[in-house]
Amino acid sequence: MKRKTYHYNTIDSTNIKAKQLASTEEEGTVIIAEGQTMGKGRLGRSWLSKNGKGIYMSIILKPKADIMKVPSITSIGAASVYLALREMGVESKIKWPNDILVGNKKICGILTEISGDTNKVNYVIMGIGVNVNLEEYEIPEELKGMVTSLKIYLGRTIDKGNLSELILDNFDRLYAPFKDGGNISHVLHICKENSSLLGKDIKVISGNEIRVGKALDINESGELVVEFGDCLEAINSGEVSIRL
Ligand code: BTN
Repeated sequence: MKRKTYHYNTIDSTNIKAKQLASTEEEGTVIIAEGQTMGKGRLGRSWLSKNGKGIYMSIILKPKADIMKVPSITSIGAASVYLALREMGVESKIKWPNDILVGNKKICGILTEISGDTNKVNYVIMGIGVNVNLEEYEIPEELKGMVTSLKIYLGRTIDKGNLSELILDNFDRLYAPFKDGGNISHVLHICKENSSLLGKDIKVISGNEIRVGKALDINESGELVVEFGDCLEAINSGEVSIRL
């Protein structure tokens, strides 16, 4: 599909650039960089963004959906990466809300940033980072054992242009019903069927609080339903981090 794309060699962060462009660019515009100097992860973390070694891209979105439903856009991104990897013959798991794992290690993260107020979405930036051709020695000590790349997993160099096109094509298809206010039950089905969390005991970390519960379901709003003792709670992706 034809889409407007800004391609940079090195940039601070494609999410930052996408925010600067959001008011003037149309929905679907993509910002891609070969490397980032200030790659942003969730919860204020940074994202390893070595030049030429990964996919670093952000999509500008302007959905007409209710702002309360917008966080579930992350699930559309996650399902798109899952499907793209499957088309390449790689089976992965989706770790709600924003991680893709292969062989139990993180290969992709998604950072969704929303601008709007209670009754209007101005824009949404969906940033996708995939570790494609990172070598084992390029993974920092503190991430070893938790993070991998497609090259490490498959033992061969991967064409990242081809993979980013597959991700974007899947995203366009899955996002189309959502942008005009439709539901994303098909997407949530993919996230549920291929979840790394459902049925498992998990730790839900929110600020300094750590709670242990069992991940039971992803509801129709894209929230994770967790059993804590004898109560069920639906958790939205905002400020939580999940560990097995
Ligand atoms: C996470 O798992 O914490 C989310 C990581 C998101 C990284 C991507 S790379 C492209 C886009 N630009 C950024 O600065 N971050 C996102």
